[in-house]
Amino acid sequence: MFMPYYPEELIEEVRSRNDIVAVVGSRVKLTRKGANYFGCCPFHNEKTPSFSVSPGKQMYYCFGCGAGGNVLTFLMNYENIGFQEALTELAGRAGITLPQREMTDDERERDSLRARLLAMNSEAAKYYYYLLRQPAGREGLAYFERRGLSRETMRRFGLGYAANSYDGLYRYLKSKGFTDEELRSSGLVRFSEQKGARDYFRDRDMFPIMDRSSRVIGFGGRILGSGEPKYLNSPETPLFDKGRNLYGLHLARSSRREYFLLCEGYMDVISMHQAGFDCAVASLGTSLTAGHAQLFKRLGKPVILCYDSDTAGVKAAMRAIPILREAGIDSRVLNMRPYKDPDEFIVHEGAEAFEKRIAEAENFFLFESDVWKSGFNLQNPAELTAFHRKLAEELTVFTETMERENYLKAVCERHGISAEHMRGLVNGVGNRRYSAEIVAPDLDELTQESLSRAGKGQTGLTTAAEIILCWAATGNAPAERVAELIREEDMPEPLYREIYRQILQEKRTRGSVIPAALINRFVEDEKGSKLVAAVFSKTLKDEMLPAEKSRLLSENWQRLRREALKTALRSEGLPAAQLQQLVRELAAVPSLKIEEYDL
Ligand code: CTP
Ligand code: MN
Repeated sequence: MFMPYYPEELIEEVRSRNDIVAVVGSRVKLTRKGANYFGCCPFHNEKTPSFSVSPGKQMYYCFGCGAGGNVLTFLMNYENIGFQEALTELAGRAGITLPQREMTDDERERDSLRARLLAMNSEAAKYYYYLLRQPAGREGLAYFERRGLSRETMRRFGLGYAANSYDGLYRYLKSKGFTDEELRSSGLVRFSEQKGARDYFRDRDMFPIMDRSSRVIGFGGRILGSGEPKYLNSPETPLFDKGRNLYGLHLARSSRREYFLLCEGYMDVISMHQAGFDCAVASLGTSLTAGHAQLFKRLGKPVILCYDSDTAGVKAAMRAIPILREAGIDSRVLNMRPYKDPDEFIVHEGAEAFEKRIAEAENFFLFESDVWKSGFNLQNPAELTAFHRKLAEELTVFTETMERENYLKAVCERHGISAEHMRGLVNGVGNRRYSAEIVAPDLDELTQESLSRAGKGQTGLTTAAEIILCWAATGNAPAERVAELIREEDMPEPLYREIYRQILQEKRTRGSVIPAALINRFVEDEKGSKLVAAVFSKTLKDEMLPAEKSRLLSENWQRLRREALKTALRSEGLPAAQLQQLVRELAAVPSLKIEEYDL
Protein backbone atom coordinates (compact mmCIF):
# COMPACT_ATOMS: atom_id res chain seq x y z
CA MET A 1 0.00 0.00 0.00
CA PHE A 2 0.93 3.60 -0.63
CA MET A 3 2.81 5.11 2.30
CA PRO A 4 2.86 8.87 1.96
CA TYR A 5 5.28 10.88 3.97
CA TYR A 6 2.75 13.57 4.78
CA PRO A 7 -0.03 13.01 7.27
CA GLU A 8 -3.28 11.91 5.69
CA GLU A 9 -5.09 15.03 6.89
CA LEU A 10 -2.69 17.30 5.07
CA ILE A 11 -3.01 15.38 1.80
CA GLU A 12 -6.77 15.51 2.21
CA GLU A 13 -6.68 19.24 2.87
CA VAL A 14 -4.66 19.87 -0.29
CA ARG A 15 -7.06 17.68 -2.23
CA SER A 16 -10.23 19.21 -0.87
CA ARG A 17 -9.06 22.78 -1.46
CA ASN A 18 -8.53 22.15 -5.17
CA ASP A 19 -11.81 21.89 -7.02
CA ILE A 20 -11.48 19.09 -9.53
CA VAL A 21 -13.71 20.82 -12.07
CA ALA A 22 -11.40 23.84 -12.10
CA VAL A 23 -8.20 21.81 -12.30
CA VAL A 24 -9.44 19.45 -15.02
CA GLY A 25 -11.33 22.25 -16.77
CA SER A 26 -8.18 24.27 -17.30
CA ARG A 27 -6.75 21.35 -19.26
CA VAL A 28 -9.72 19.60 -20.84
CA LYS A 29 -12.74 21.30 -22.38
CA LEU A 30 -15.71 20.36 -20.21
CA THR A 31 -19.43 20.81 -20.79
CA ARG A 32 -22.02 20.63 -18.08
CA LYS A 33 -24.56 17.84 -18.38
CA GLY A 34 -26.89 17.50 -15.46
CA ALA A 35 -24.97 17.21 -12.22
CA ASN A 36 -21.74 16.29 -13.99
CA TYR A 37 -19.30 17.62 -16.55
CA PHE A 38 -18.26 15.77 -19.67
CA GLY A 39 -15.34 16.12 -22.06
CA CYS A 40 -13.15 14.14 -24.43
CA CYS A 41 -10.93 11.86 -22.40
CA PRO A 42 -7.30 13.03 -22.28
CA PHE A 43 -6.15 9.48 -21.58
CA HIS A 44 -7.38 7.82 -24.74
CA ASN A 45 -8.32 8.96 -28.21
CA GLU A 46 -11.98 9.71 -28.68
CA LYS A 47 -14.23 12.17 -30.41
CA THR A 48 -17.43 11.77 -28.42
CA PRO A 49 -17.04 12.71 -24.77
CA SER A 50 -17.17 9.85 -22.30
CA PHE A 51 -14.92 11.43 -19.70
CA SER A 52 -16.96 12.61 -16.71
CA VAL A 53 -16.07 14.89 -13.84
CA SER A 54 -18.29 14.93 -10.81
CA PRO A 55 -18.23 18.12 -8.72
CA GLY A 56 -20.17 16.39 -5.97
CA LYS A 57 -17.81 13.46 -5.61
CA GLN A 58 -14.74 15.43 -6.71
CA MET A 59 -13.78 12.57 -9.02
CA TYR A 60 -13.31 11.90 -12.68
CA TYR A 61 -14.14 8.71 -14.48
CA CYS A 62 -13.96 7.74 -18.16
CA PHE A 63 -16.69 5.39 -19.32
CA GLY A 64 -14.60 4.63 -22.38
CA CYS A 65 -11.23 3.58 -20.99
CA GLY A 66 -11.87 3.34 -17.26
CA ALA A 67 -9.40 6.05 -16.30
CA GLY A 68 -10.49 7.50 -13.01
CA GLY A 69 -9.42 9.09 -9.78
CA ASN A 70 -9.32 12.36 -7.87
CA VAL A 71 -7.64 15.69 -8.52
CA LEU A 72 -4.25 14.33 -7.42
CA THR A 73 -4.22 11.29 -9.68
CA PHE A 74 -5.55 13.43 -12.52
CA LEU A 75 -2.60 15.77 -12.30
CA MET A 76 -0.13 12.89 -11.89
CA ASN A 77 -1.42 11.12 -14.98
CA TYR A 78 -2.08 14.18 -17.10
CA GLU A 79 1.23 15.89 -16.44
CA ASN A 80 3.10 12.64 -16.11
CA ILE A 81 4.50 13.59 -12.71
CA GLY A 82 4.87 11.85 -9.37
CA PHE A 83 2.71 12.15 -6.29
CA GLN A 84 5.12 14.54 -4.59
CA GLU A 85 5.17 16.91 -7.53
CA ALA A 86 1.40 16.85 -7.94
CA LEU A 87 0.88 17.48 -4.24
CA THR A 88 3.32 20.37 -4.29
CA GLU A 89 1.63 21.95 -7.29
CA LEU A 90 -1.85 21.65 -5.83
CA ALA A 91 -0.68 22.91 -2.45
CA GLY A 92 0.80 25.94 -4.20
CA ARG A 93 -2.43 26.47 -6.11
CA ALA A 94 -4.42 26.50 -2.89
CA GLY A 95 -1.88 28.58 -1.00
CA ILE A 96 -0.98 25.80 1.41
CA THR A 97 2.61 25.54 2.56
CA LEU A 98 3.89 22.00 2.80
CA PRO A 99 6.33 21.32 5.61
CA GLN A 100 9.86 20.48 4.54
CA ARG A 101 10.04 16.77 4.33
CA GLU A 102 12.76 14.24 4.72
CA MET A 103 13.31 12.20 1.60
CA THR A 104 13.63 8.45 1.71
CA ASP A 105 17.09 7.07 0.94
CA ASP A 106 15.90 5.88 -2.43
CA GLU A 107 14.42 9.20 -3.34
CA ARG A 108 17.45 11.06 -2.18
CA GLU A 109 19.70 8.91 -4.33
CA ARG A 110 17.51 9.22 -7.40
CA ASP A 111 17.07 12.92 -6.86
CA SER A 112 20.71 13.58 -6.30
CA LEU A 113 21.76 11.57 -9.37
CA ARG A 114 19.32 13.57 -11.48
CA ALA A 115 20.49 16.81 -9.94
CA ARG A 116 24.12 15.87 -10.52
CA LEU A 117 23.40 14.90 -14.13
CA LEU A 118 21.66 18.21 -14.70
CA ALA A 119 24.56 20.06 -13.16
CA MET A 120 27.10 18.18 -15.29
CA ASN A 121 25.18 18.79 -18.49
CA SER A 122 24.78 22.42 -17.65
CA GLU A 123 28.50 22.82 -16.94
CA ALA A 124 29.40 20.96 -20.12
CA ALA A 125 27.10 23.22 -22.15
CA LYS A 126 28.82 26.28 -20.71
CA TYR A 127 32.19 24.79 -21.50
CA TYR A 128 31.30 24.05 -25.14
CA TYR A 129 29.61 27.42 -25.53
CA TYR A 130 32.70 29.18 -24.28
CA LEU A 131 35.06 27.20 -26.52
CA LEU A 132 33.10 28.05 -29.66
CA ARG A 133 33.95 31.69 -29.02
CA GLN A 134 37.65 31.01 -28.35
CA PRO A 135 40.51 30.72 -30.85
CA ALA A 136 40.35 26.93 -30.39
CA GLY A 137 36.79 27.03 -31.66
CA ARG A 138 37.48 28.99 -34.82
CA GLU A 139 36.76 26.07 -37.13
CA GLY A 140 33.61 25.19 -35.26
CA LEU A 141 32.33 28.73 -35.49
CA ALA A 142 33.22 28.94 -39.19
CA TYR A 143 31.17 25.82 -39.83
CA PHE A 144 28.04 27.26 -38.18
CA GLU A 145 28.57 30.48 -40.11
CA ARG A 146 28.84 28.56 -43.38
CA ARG A 147 25.50 27.02 -42.52
CA GLY A 148 24.10 30.53 -42.33
CA LEU A 149 23.48 30.79 -38.61
CA SER A 150 23.54 34.23 -37.02
CA ARG A 151 25.22 34.93 -33.69
CA GLU A 152 21.79 35.50 -32.18
CA THR A 153 20.61 32.07 -33.35
CA MET A 154 23.74 30.40 -31.97
CA ARG A 155 23.09 32.11 -28.66
CA ARG A 156 19.41 31.19 -28.57
CA PHE A 157 20.23 27.50 -29.09
CA GLY A 158 23.30 27.59 -26.85
CA LEU A 159 25.46 26.14 -29.63
CA GLY A 160 29.02 25.22 -28.78
CA TYR A 161 32.13 23.39 -29.80
CA ALA A 162 33.93 20.36 -28.35
CA ALA A 163 37.64 20.83 -28.86
CA ASN A 164 39.88 18.28 -30.45
CA SER A 165 41.34 17.36 -27.10
CA TYR A 166 41.40 14.01 -25.31
CA ASP A 167 40.16 15.12 -21.97
CA GLY A 168 39.49 18.87 -21.91
CA LEU A 169 35.93 18.46 -20.70
CA TYR A 170 36.92 15.70 -18.29
CA ARG A 171 39.47 17.91 -16.58
CA TYR A 172 37.08 20.85 -16.53
CA LEU A 173 34.30 18.85 -14.91
CA LYS A 174 36.73 17.30 -12.41
CA SER A 175 37.78 20.81 -11.43
CA LYS A 176 34.10 21.51 -10.78
CA GLY A 177 34.01 18.66 -8.28
CA PHE A 178 32.33 15.86 -10.21
CA THR A 179 33.50 12.33 -9.51
CA ASP A 180 34.56 9.73 -12.09
CA GLU A 181 31.47 7.72 -11.20
CA GLU A 182 29.19 10.67 -11.89
CA LEU A 183 30.98 11.49 -15.12
CA ARG A 184 30.65 7.93 -16.31
CA SER A 185 26.88 7.98 -15.84
CA SER A 186 26.53 11.26 -17.71
CA GLY A 187 27.83 9.73 -20.93
CA LEU A 188 30.01 12.79 -21.49
CA VAL A 189 33.20 10.94 -20.64
CA ARG A 190 34.30 7.39 -21.44
CA PHE A 191 36.70 5.35 -19.42
CA SER A 192 38.90 2.56 -20.70
CA GLU A 193 41.67 0.42 -19.21
CA GLN A 194 44.36 1.55 -21.61
CA LYS A 195 43.42 5.13 -22.32
CA GLY A 196 41.84 6.25 -19.10
CA ALA A 197 39.27 9.06 -19.27
CA ARG A 198 38.37 10.34 -22.73
CA ASP A 199 35.86 13.02 -23.72
CA TYR A 200 33.00 11.47 -25.67
CA PHE A 201 32.59 14.46 -28.01
CA ARG A 202 35.72 15.67 -29.76
CA ASP A 203 36.16 18.18 -32.57
CA ARG A 204 32.42 18.51 -33.09
CA ASP A 205 29.95 21.36 -33.19
CA MET A 206 27.68 20.90 -30.22
CA PHE A 207 23.90 21.13 -29.96
CA PRO A 208 22.73 21.09 -26.35
CA ILE A 209 19.40 19.33 -26.00
CA MET A 210 16.99 20.97 -23.62
CA ASP A 211 13.94 19.57 -21.88
CA ARG A 212 10.66 21.48 -21.79
CA SER A 213 11.93 23.64 -18.97
CA SER A 214 15.09 24.62 -20.88
CA ARG A 215 17.40 22.44 -18.79
CA VAL A 216 20.22 20.74 -20.68
CA ILE A 217 19.72 16.98 -20.62
CA GLY A 218 22.08 15.80 -23.37
CA PHE A 219 23.94 16.74 -26.53
CA GLY A 220 24.15 16.12 -30.22
CA GLY A 221 27.52 16.71 -31.83
CA ARG A 222 28.08 17.24 -35.55
CA ILE A 223 31.30 16.54 -37.33
CA LEU A 224 32.75 19.56 -39.14
CA GLY A 225 32.44 18.67 -42.78
CA SER A 226 32.13 15.07 -43.89
CA GLY A 227 32.89 11.89 -41.97
CA GLU A 228 31.19 9.25 -39.89
CA PRO A 229 29.21 9.35 -37.81
CA LYS A 230 27.83 12.69 -38.93
CA TYR A 231 26.03 13.15 -35.64
CA LEU A 232 26.94 11.68 -32.29
CA ASN A 233 24.37 11.84 -29.50
CA SER A 234 24.55 11.48 -25.74
CA PRO A 235 23.53 8.02 -24.63
CA GLU A 236 20.25 7.69 -22.74
CA THR A 237 20.58 8.51 -19.06
CA PRO A 238 17.97 8.77 -16.29
CA LEU A 239 17.68 12.37 -17.52
CA PHE A 240 17.89 11.93 -21.25
CA ASP A 241 14.89 9.96 -22.48
CA LYS A 242 14.80 10.28 -26.25
CA GLY A 243 11.28 8.95 -26.51
CA ARG A 244 9.87 11.73 -24.36
CA ASN A 245 11.80 14.78 -25.43
CA LEU A 246 11.78 16.82 -28.59
CA TYR A 247 14.55 19.11 -29.76
CA GLY A 248 13.38 22.73 -29.71
CA LEU A 249 10.23 22.10 -27.67
CA HIS A 250 11.32 24.48 -24.92
CA LEU A 251 10.97 27.30 -27.45
CA ALA A 252 8.21 25.89 -29.67
CA ARG A 253 5.79 25.32 -26.79
CA SER A 254 5.29 29.07 -26.44
CA SER A 255 5.02 29.75 -30.16
CA ARG A 256 1.93 31.64 -31.26
CA ARG A 257 1.57 29.57 -34.40
CA GLU A 258 -1.34 27.18 -34.47
CA TYR A 259 0.64 24.07 -35.32
CA PHE A 260 3.96 22.34 -34.75
CA LEU A 261 6.46 21.70 -37.51
CA LEU A 262 8.02 18.30 -36.95
CA CYS A 263 11.44 17.95 -38.61
CA GLU A 264 14.09 15.26 -38.65
CA GLY A 265 17.21 17.15 -37.69
CA TYR A 266 18.80 19.66 -35.35
CA MET A 267 19.86 21.92 -38.19
CA ASP A 268 16.35 21.89 -39.62
CA VAL A 269 14.89 23.10 -36.35
CA ILE A 270 17.48 25.83 -35.97
CA SER A 271 17.10 27.06 -39.55
CA MET A 272 13.36 27.15 -39.21
CA HIS A 273 13.48 29.13 -35.98
CA GLN A 274 15.93 31.56 -37.53
CA ALA A 275 13.52 32.04 -40.43
CA GLY A 276 10.69 32.84 -38.01
CA PHE A 277 9.09 29.41 -37.70
CA ASP A 278 9.46 29.18 -33.96
CA CYS A 279 7.15 26.16 -33.71
CA ALA A 280 9.68 23.72 -35.22
CA VAL A 281 10.81 20.65 -33.26
CA ALA A 282 12.61 17.38 -34.06
CA SER A 283 12.77 13.96 -32.49
CA LEU A 284 16.25 13.17 -31.28
CA GLY A 285 17.78 10.98 -33.96
CA THR A 286 15.06 8.39 -33.29
CA SER A 287 11.70 7.76 -34.88
CA LEU A 288 8.59 9.29 -33.42
CA THR A 289 7.18 7.51 -30.38
CA ALA A 290 3.81 7.49 -28.63
CA GLY A 291 5.56 9.46 -25.89
CA HIS A 292 6.27 12.26 -28.37
CA ALA A 293 2.68 12.12 -29.58
CA GLN A 294 1.53 12.64 -25.99
CA LEU A 295 3.66 15.78 -25.78
CA PHE A 296 1.89 17.20 -28.83
CA LYS A 297 -1.46 16.09 -27.56
CA ARG A 298 -1.00 17.95 -24.30
CA LEU A 299 -0.15 21.11 -26.17
CA GLY A 300 -3.24 20.61 -28.28
CA LYS A 301 -2.05 21.65 -31.71
CA PRO A 302 -1.89 19.76 -35.00
CA VAL A 303 1.44 18.62 -36.42
CA ILE A 304 2.84 19.34 -39.85
CA LEU A 305 5.42 16.74 -40.84
CA CYS A 306 8.50 18.26 -42.44
CA TYR A 307 10.50 15.12 -42.92
CA ASP A 308 13.17 14.74 -45.60
CA SER A 309 11.82 14.29 -49.09
CA ASP A 310 13.91 11.15 -49.72
CA THR A 311 12.68 7.55 -49.37
CA ALA A 312 13.80 7.36 -45.76
CA GLY A 313 11.86 10.53 -44.96
CA VAL A 314 8.68 9.21 -46.59
CA LYS A 315 9.06 5.98 -44.66
CA ALA A 316 9.50 7.92 -41.44
CA ALA A 317 6.35 9.91 -42.20
CA MET A 318 4.39 6.73 -42.89
CA ARG A 319 5.49 5.42 -39.50
CA ALA A 320 4.72 8.66 -37.68
CA ILE A 321 1.22 9.23 -39.08
CA PRO A 322 -0.53 6.30 -37.34
CA ILE A 323 1.21 7.13 -34.07
CA LEU A 324 -0.10 10.68 -34.22
CA ARG A 325 -3.53 9.55 -35.36
CA GLU A 326 -3.85 7.08 -32.51
CA ALA A 327 -3.11 9.85 -30.07
CA GLY A 328 -5.87 11.86 -31.70
CA ILE A 329 -3.57 14.40 -33.33
CA ASP A 330 -4.39 15.84 -36.70
CA SER A 331 -1.40 15.75 -39.03
CA ARG A 332 -0.45 17.06 -42.44
CA VAL A 333 2.58 16.45 -44.62
CA LEU A 334 4.61 19.23 -46.16
CA ASN A 335 6.14 18.83 -49.60
CA MET A 336 9.77 19.93 -49.57
CA ARG A 337 10.66 19.03 -53.13
CA PRO A 338 12.96 19.63 -54.87
CA TYR A 339 14.93 20.16 -51.66
CA LYS A 340 16.01 17.49 -49.25
CA ASP A 341 15.06 19.03 -45.94
CA PRO A 342 13.65 22.21 -44.37
CA ASP A 343 17.13 23.64 -43.84
CA GLU A 344 17.97 23.38 -47.55
CA PHE A 345 14.58 24.71 -48.50
CA ILE A 346 14.92 27.82 -46.33
CA VAL A 347 18.47 28.48 -47.48
CA HIS A 348 17.41 28.35 -51.13
CA GLU A 349 13.84 29.61 -51.17
CA GLY A 350 13.41 31.63 -48.00
CA ALA A 351 10.66 31.94 -45.45
CA GLU A 352 7.88 33.23 -47.67
CA ALA A 353 8.05 30.24 -50.00
CA PHE A 354 8.03 27.94 -46.97
CA GLU A 355 4.98 29.68 -45.58
CA LYS A 356 3.24 28.80 -48.83
CA ARG A 357 4.26 25.15 -48.52
CA ILE A 358 2.77 25.11 -45.03
CA ALA A 359 -0.53 26.34 -46.41
CA GLU A 360 -0.41 23.60 -49.05
CA ALA A 361 0.54 20.79 -46.67
CA GLU A 362 -1.34 17.64 -47.51
CA ASN A 363 -3.86 15.92 -45.27
CA PHE A 364 -2.20 12.81 -43.85
CA PHE A 365 -4.67 10.36 -45.35
CA LEU A 366 -4.32 11.74 -48.87
CA PHE A 367 -0.55 11.62 -48.45
CA GLU A 368 -0.73 8.02 -47.31
CA SER A 369 -2.99 7.14 -50.23
CA ASP A 370 -0.37 8.43 -52.70
CA VAL A 371 2.30 6.32 -51.07
CA TRP A 372 0.12 3.19 -51.14
CA LYS A 373 -0.74 3.88 -54.75
CA SER A 374 2.92 3.96 -55.76
CA GLY A 375 3.21 0.36 -54.58
CA PHE A 376 0.79 -0.94 -57.22
CA ASN A 377 0.99 -1.27 -60.99
CA LEU A 378 -2.36 0.29 -61.83
CA GLN A 379 -2.27 -0.89 -65.47
CA ASN A 380 -2.81 -4.38 -64.11
CA PRO A 381 -6.51 -4.86 -63.16
CA ALA A 382 -5.64 -7.25 -60.33
CA GLU A 383 -3.31 -4.71 -58.76
CA LEU A 384 -5.76 -1.88 -59.37
CA THR A 385 -8.36 -3.87 -57.45
CA ALA A 386 -5.85 -4.55 -54.70
CA PHE A 387 -5.19 -0.82 -54.44
CA HIS A 388 -8.91 -0.09 -54.12
CA ARG A 389 -9.24 -2.76 -51.45
CA LYS A 390 -6.33 -1.26 -49.59
CA LEU A 391 -8.04 2.13 -49.58
CA ALA A 392 -11.34 0.61 -48.46
CA GLU A 393 -9.64 -1.17 -45.61
CA GLU A 394 -7.76 1.91 -44.51
CA LEU A 395 -10.92 4.00 -44.63
CA THR A 396 -12.34 1.88 -41.85
CA VAL A 397 -9.98 3.54 -39.37
CA PHE A 398 -12.46 6.39 -39.40
CA THR A 399 -15.18 5.16 -37.11
CA GLU A 400 -17.32 8.26 -37.30
CA THR A 401 -19.68 7.97 -40.25
CA MET A 402 -19.44 11.56 -41.38
CA GLU A 403 -15.70 11.70 -41.17
CA ARG A 404 -15.30 8.44 -43.05
CA GLU A 405 -17.62 9.67 -45.77
CA ASN A 406 -15.62 12.89 -46.14
CA TYR A 407 -12.36 10.99 -46.46
CA LEU A 408 -13.95 8.54 -48.84
CA LYS A 409 -15.09 11.33 -51.16
CA ALA A 410 -11.76 13.13 -51.06
CA VAL A 411 -9.66 10.07 -51.71
CA CYS A 412 -11.91 8.87 -54.55
CA GLU A 413 -11.80 12.23 -56.21
CA ARG A 414 -8.05 12.30 -55.97
CA HIS A 415 -7.57 8.90 -57.57
CA GLY A 416 -10.50 8.99 -59.98
CA ILE A 417 -12.48 6.23 -58.30
CA SER A 418 -16.27 6.05 -58.10
CA ALA A 419 -17.34 6.97 -54.59
CA GLU A 420 -20.37 4.74 -54.81
CA HIS A 421 -18.28 1.68 -55.58
CA MET A 422 -15.88 2.55 -52.83
CA ARG A 423 -18.75 2.77 -50.34
CA GLY A 424 -19.75 -0.76 -51.30
CA LEU A 425 -16.19 -1.94 -50.93
CA VAL A 426 -15.81 -0.33 -47.53
CA ASN A 427 -18.94 -2.03 -46.26
CA GLY A 428 -17.71 -5.28 -47.74
CA VAL A 429 -14.39 -5.07 -45.96
CA GLY A 430 -16.51 -5.93 -43.01
CA ASN A 431 -17.22 -4.05 -39.93
CA ARG A 432 -14.00 -5.25 -38.52
CA ARG A 433 -12.89 -1.92 -37.21
CA TYR A 434 -16.27 -0.39 -36.55
CA SER A 435 -16.03 -0.70 -32.85
CA ALA A 436 -19.20 0.27 -31.10
CA GLU A 437 -18.84 3.93 -30.40
CA ILE A 438 -19.19 5.09 -26.89
CA VAL A 439 -21.81 7.74 -26.72
CA ALA A 440 -21.64 10.27 -23.96
CA PRO A 441 -23.47 8.26 -21.34
CA ASP A 442 -25.85 9.70 -18.88
CA LEU A 443 -24.37 8.62 -15.61
CA ASP A 444 -27.68 7.42 -14.23
CA GLU A 445 -28.81 5.57 -17.31
CA LEU A 446 -25.52 3.83 -17.58
CA THR A 447 -25.62 2.77 -14.00
CA GLN A 448 -29.15 1.61 -14.35
CA GLU A 449 -28.14 -0.52 -17.27
CA SER A 450 -25.06 -2.04 -15.70
CA LEU A 451 -27.03 -2.70 -12.57
CA SER A 452 -29.74 -4.61 -14.30
CA ARG A 453 -27.21 -6.46 -16.42
CA ALA A 454 -25.36 -7.44 -13.29
CA GLY A 455 -28.65 -8.38 -11.70
CA LYS A 456 -29.35 -10.75 -14.52
CA GLY A 457 -25.94 -12.27 -14.14
CA GLN A 458 -24.72 -11.02 -17.47
CA THR A 459 -21.67 -9.09 -16.39
CA GLY A 460 -18.66 -10.12 -14.45
CA LEU A 461 -18.47 -10.62 -10.76
CA THR A 462 -16.36 -7.52 -10.57
CA THR A 463 -19.30 -5.33 -11.53
CA ALA A 464 -21.34 -6.93 -8.78
CA ALA A 465 -18.49 -6.24 -6.37
CA GLU A 466 -18.32 -2.61 -7.47
CA ILE A 467 -22.02 -2.18 -6.84
CA ILE A 468 -21.74 -3.65 -3.37
CA LEU A 469 -18.69 -1.55 -2.56
CA CYS A 470 -20.52 1.56 -3.70
CA TRP A 471 -23.39 0.75 -1.39
CA ALA A 472 -20.98 -0.04 1.46
CA ALA A 473 -19.33 3.35 1.02
CA THR A 474 -22.32 5.57 0.36
CA GLY A 475 -25.25 3.78 2.00
CA ASN A 476 -26.77 4.63 5.36
CA ALA A 477 -25.71 1.44 7.07
CA PRO A 478 -22.95 2.09 9.62
CA ALA A 479 -19.62 0.31 9.33
CA GLU A 480 -20.56 -2.32 11.91
CA ARG A 481 -23.69 -3.26 10.03
CA VAL A 482 -21.88 -3.43 6.69
CA ALA A 483 -19.15 -5.59 8.20
CA GLU A 484 -21.77 -7.87 9.71
CA LEU A 485 -23.25 -8.48 6.25
CA ILE A 486 -20.39 -8.40 3.75
CA ARG A 487 -17.32 -10.55 4.30
CA GLU A 488 -13.94 -9.69 2.89
CA GLU A 489 -14.00 -13.07 1.15
CA ASP A 490 -17.15 -12.03 -0.71
CA MET A 491 -14.92 -9.79 -2.80
CA PRO A 492 -13.63 -11.54 -5.91
CA GLU A 493 -10.07 -10.18 -6.01
CA PRO A 494 -7.42 -8.92 -3.58
CA LEU A 495 -7.74 -5.33 -4.79
CA TYR A 496 -11.49 -5.35 -4.11
CA ARG A 497 -10.83 -6.74 -0.65
CA GLU A 498 -8.30 -3.98 -0.02
CA ILE A 499 -10.78 -1.31 -1.08
CA TYR A 500 -13.46 -2.87 1.08
CA ARG A 501 -11.13 -2.76 4.09
CA GLN A 502 -10.33 0.88 3.39
CA ILE A 503 -14.01 1.77 3.05
CA LEU A 504 -14.78 0.22 6.40
CA GLN A 505 -11.89 2.02 7.99
CA GLU A 506 -12.95 5.38 6.56
CA LYS A 507 -16.49 4.82 7.70
CA ARG A 508 -15.39 3.86 11.19
CA THR A 509 -13.09 6.82 11.66
CA ARG A 510 -15.04 9.54 9.86
CA GLY A 511 -18.53 8.17 9.96
CA SER A 512 -18.84 8.50 6.21
CA VAL A 513 -16.70 8.00 3.12
CA ILE A 514 -15.61 10.91 0.98
CA PRO A 515 -15.02 9.30 -2.41
CA ALA A 516 -12.13 11.52 -3.44
CA ALA A 517 -10.49 11.15 -0.04
CA LEU A 518 -10.54 7.39 -0.37
CA ILE A 519 -8.53 7.74 -3.56
CA ASN A 520 -5.79 9.50 -1.60
CA ARG A 521 -4.99 6.05 -0.23
CA PHE A 522 -4.45 4.70 -3.71
CA VAL A 523 -2.77 7.61 -5.50
CA GLU A 524 0.29 5.65 -6.44
CA ASP A 525 -1.63 2.56 -7.42
CA GLU A 526 -3.25 3.23 -10.78
CA LYS A 527 -5.42 0.12 -10.70
CA GLY A 528 -6.63 0.98 -7.25
CA SER A 529 -7.57 4.59 -7.97
CA LYS A 530 -9.28 3.58 -11.21
CA LEU A 531 -11.28 0.99 -9.37
CA VAL A 532 -12.34 3.35 -6.61
CA ALA A 533 -13.49 5.82 -9.28
CA ALA A 534 -15.37 3.04 -11.05
CA VAL A 535 -17.04 2.01 -7.79
CA PHE A 536 -18.31 5.50 -7.10
CA SER A 537 -19.51 5.99 -10.65
CA LYS A 538 -22.16 3.38 -9.88
CA THR A 539 -24.76 5.49 -8.20
CA LEU A 540 -28.27 4.19 -7.89
CA LYS A 541 -30.88 6.16 -9.70
CA ASP A 542 -32.74 8.43 -7.31
CA GLU A 543 -36.23 7.68 -8.46
CA MET A 544 -35.73 3.94 -8.04
CA LEU A 545 -38.03 2.55 -5.38
CA PRO A 546 -36.30 1.38 -2.21
CA ALA A 547 -37.68 -2.11 -2.71
CA GLU A 548 -36.14 -2.20 -6.15
CA LYS A 549 -32.77 -1.00 -4.87
CA SER A 550 -32.82 -3.51 -2.08
CA ARG A 551 -33.57 -6.32 -4.50
CA LEU A 552 -30.79 -5.32 -6.91
CA LEU A 553 -28.24 -5.07 -4.16
CA SER A 554 -29.28 -8.36 -2.61
CA GLU A 555 -28.99 -10.15 -5.93
CA ASN A 556 -25.49 -8.84 -6.49
CA TRP A 557 -24.44 -9.72 -2.99
CA GLN A 558 -25.83 -13.24 -3.38
CA ARG A 559 -23.82 -13.71 -6.57
CA LEU A 560 -20.66 -12.67 -4.82
CA ARG A 561 -21.26 -14.91 -1.84
CA ARG A 562 -22.19 -17.89 -4.03
CA GLU A 563 -19.02 -17.58 -6.08
CA ALA A 564 -16.88 -17.14 -2.99
CA LEU A 565 -18.35 -20.27 -1.41
CA LYS A 566 -17.93 -22.27 -4.60
CA THR A 567 -14.30 -21.25 -4.77
CA ALA A 568 -13.81 -22.30 -1.18
CA LEU A 569 -15.49 -25.64 -1.87
CA ARG A 570 -13.09 -26.31 -4.71
CA SER A 571 -10.05 -26.17 -2.45
CA GLU A 572 -8.66 -29.58 -1.69
CA GLY A 573 -8.39 -31.41 1.60
CA LEU A 574 -11.20 -29.64 3.41
CA PRO A 575 -12.11 -31.22 6.78
CA ALA A 576 -15.59 -32.72 6.70
CA ALA A 577 -16.96 -30.26 9.24
CA GLN A 578 -15.87 -27.28 7.20
CA LEU A 579 -17.24 -28.84 4.07
CA GLN A 580 -20.63 -29.23 5.71
CA GLN A 581 -20.52 -25.65 6.90
CA LEU A 582 -19.81 -24.38 3.39
CA VAL A 583 -22.64 -26.41 1.93
CA ARG A 584 -25.03 -25.05 4.56
CA GLU A 585 -23.95 -21.52 3.76
CA LEU A 586 -24.42 -22.12 0.09
CA ALA A 587 -27.95 -23.29 0.71
CA ALA A 588 -28.62 -20.14 2.73
CA VAL A 589 -27.45 -17.75 0.01
CA PRO A 590 -30.94 -17.07 -1.45
CA SER A 591 -32.05 -15.71 1.92
CA LEU A 592 -29.29 -13.06 2.09
CA LYS A 593 -30.82 -9.66 1.97
CA ILE A 594 -29.74 -6.03 2.12
CA GLU A 595 -32.78 -4.44 3.70
CA GLU A 596 -34.42 -1.20 2.75
CA TYR A 597 -33.34 0.39 6.01
CA ASP A 598 -29.71 -0.44 5.06
CA LEU A 599 -29.82 1.59 1.86
N1 CTP B 1 21.18 11.72 -36.84
C1 CTP B 1 21.87 11.03 -35.86
N2 CTP B 1 22.97 10.32 -36.15
C2 CTP B 1 23.44 10.26 -37.43
C3 CTP B 1 22.76 10.94 -38.44
C4 CTP B 1 21.62 11.67 -38.11
O1 CTP B 1 21.46 11.09 -34.72
N3 CTP B 1 24.53 9.56 -37.69
C5 CTP B 1 19.99 12.49 -36.47
C6 CTP B 1 20.34 13.90 -36.06
O2 CTP B 1 19.43 14.32 -35.06
C7 CTP B 1 20.11 14.68 -37.32
C8 CTP B 1 18.92 13.97 -37.90
O3 CTP B 1 19.11 12.62 -37.56
O4 CTP B 1 19.85 16.04 -37.04
C9 CTP B 1 18.78 14.13 -39.38
O5 CTP B 1 19.88 13.57 -40.05
P1 CTP B 1 20.31 14.03 -41.47
O6 CTP B 1 19.12 14.26 -42.34
O7 CTP B 1 21.37 13.10 -41.95
O8 CTP B 1 21.04 15.34 -41.11
P2 CTP B 1 20.67 16.85 -41.28
O9 CTP B 1 19.82 17.29 -40.16
O10 CTP B 1 20.26 17.16 -42.64
O11 CTP B 1 22.09 17.38 -40.96
P3 CTP B 1 22.97 18.34 -41.77
O12 CTP B 1 22.05 19.31 -42.41
O13 CTP B 1 23.83 18.90 -40.70
O14 CTP B 1 23.74 17.50 -42.72
MN1 MN C 1 20.28 18.97 -43.62
